[in-house]
Amino acid sequence: MARQVCSHLSAEFADALSEARDLLKEIFRTRQDVVIAPGSSSLGIEMAIANSIEPGDEVLVVASGYYADRIALMVRRHRGVPVKVEAPLRRCIPVERVAEACDAHPEARALCVVHVETSTGVVNPVRELGRLARRRGLLYIVDAVSSVGGMDVRVDEWGMDYCITGPQKALAAPPGLALLSVSERALEVASSRREEPFTFYMDVRGWVRATREPLKRYVTHAVLLVLALREALRLVLEEGLERRFRRHEALADAMRAGLRALGMELFPEEAYAAPTLTAVEVPEGLSSRALVRAVLEEGVRVSAGWGELADRILRVGHMGNVGPEHILRTLGALEKAMAKLGREVSGGVEAAAARLSEFEEDLLRPPDEVPELGAA
Ligand SMILES: Cc1ncc(COP(=O)(O)O)c(C=O)c1O
Repeated sequence: MARQVCSHLSAEFADALSEARDLLKEIFRTRQDVVIAPGSSSLGIEMAIANSIEPGDEVLVVASGYYADRIALMVRRHRGVPVKVEAPLRRCIPVERVAEACDAHPEARALCVVHVETSTGVVNPVRELGRLARRRGLLYIVDAVSSVGGMDVRVDEWGMDYCITGPQKALAAPPGLALLSVSERALEVASSRREEPFTFYMDVRGWVRATREPLKRYVTHAVLLVLALREALRLVLEEGLERRFRRHEALADAMRAGLRALGMELFPEEAYAAPTLTAVEVPEGLSSRALVRAVLEEGVRVSAGWGELADRILRVGHMGNVGPEHILRTLGALEKAMAKLGREVSGGVEAAAARLSEFEEDLLRPPDEVPELGAA
C-alpha cells in the first residue's frame, strides 16, 4: 500500500480488482458472483439483508450471540421482522430447533446465521443449515467474517445465497472492504422485488456489475485496499486452503492447551470451538477486562467478552498469518499479566510448545513472503 495511488479508472486497478475477485471465488469455493465493496464486513451483511427482504418479511436469525443480535437489528432497520432462534451459549444451534422455527414461521423469507460467533468462539453448522434452508425455500445468509480463510467454507456446495466476510480476519489483509458471494437466486430475488431497494449504495445489482466489470465504475473504489487484498489472497492460495486450515487447527490446539495450563477453561464445549479464536473463562475472582489491560501492557491485544459475558471471558484471536511465535508470545504475556494481578501461574508456554512440537514445523509457518507478481 506504500505506493503511488493509481486511478480507480485505470487498467491497472481493473486488473487488480479482477484478480482479487477471481481469487476470492476460489476461496469462497463459488462459481457464482462475488462482490468487493469499500466499507466493512457489516456493509456486506446489511447489503444481503437490504436486497433480500421487504417490509413485513419474517427472517429467521440463529441467535448465537452479539454478532447474531446485530443481524436481527439490521433486519428490523430494513423493516423486516426478525425471528430469533435461541442457540445454547456454549454449543452450536441444534438444526432441529431451526427446523421447528421454520414450521412455526412458514412465510419466513430468509435464514441468517453466524458461522463463527466471535463473541463466544462457537462454530455453527452452516452446512446442515444450508440443506434445511434449501428444503424450506429460504434465502440463506451466512456471516462468515471469522471463518473464511481459516476454515472450510463452501459457498456453492453448502447452498449459501450470501456469504459475507471481511479482509481483516482470517484473510489477513487490511480492514475496509466488504467481501461477499452472491448467488444467482439472491440476484433474482434482488431483481424481482415489489419495490426498489431503499438504498443506492447497497444495491447488490450495482455491486455485482461493478465487480464483474471493474472498468464500469459504480462508486470510487478503495484502490489501495484492493491492491493489498489481492496480495493477501495470493498468499492465502499460495499456502493452500487445506494447509491453511490445518495450520489454524494446530495453532488453536496449542492455544487451548496453553490457556488450560494457565487455569482457564474453554468457554465453548470443545467440539464446537472455533479454530480461528479461543474464548476461555477467566478464573474465579479475576476480571477479564483487567486482564486485557494488563496483557496490553505486555504488547499483546486480547479481548474481553460482550454483554453478560463481558467480564467473564477472555477471547484470543489467532486467525490469519499467525505462527507459533504469536501463540507462545501471547501465552507468555498472559502469564506475566496474571502475575501482575496476583495470580502466579506457569506452564502455559510449555504446554503450547509441547503441542506444537507434534506438528510438522513447515505446516505451522504462515505465508510471510509476498509471491512474485504474476499476470492478472
Ligand atoms: C462474526 C462477525 N460478524 C460481523 C463482524 C463485523 O465486521 P466489521 O467490523 O468488519 O464490520 C465481526 C467483527 O468482528 C464479526 O466477528
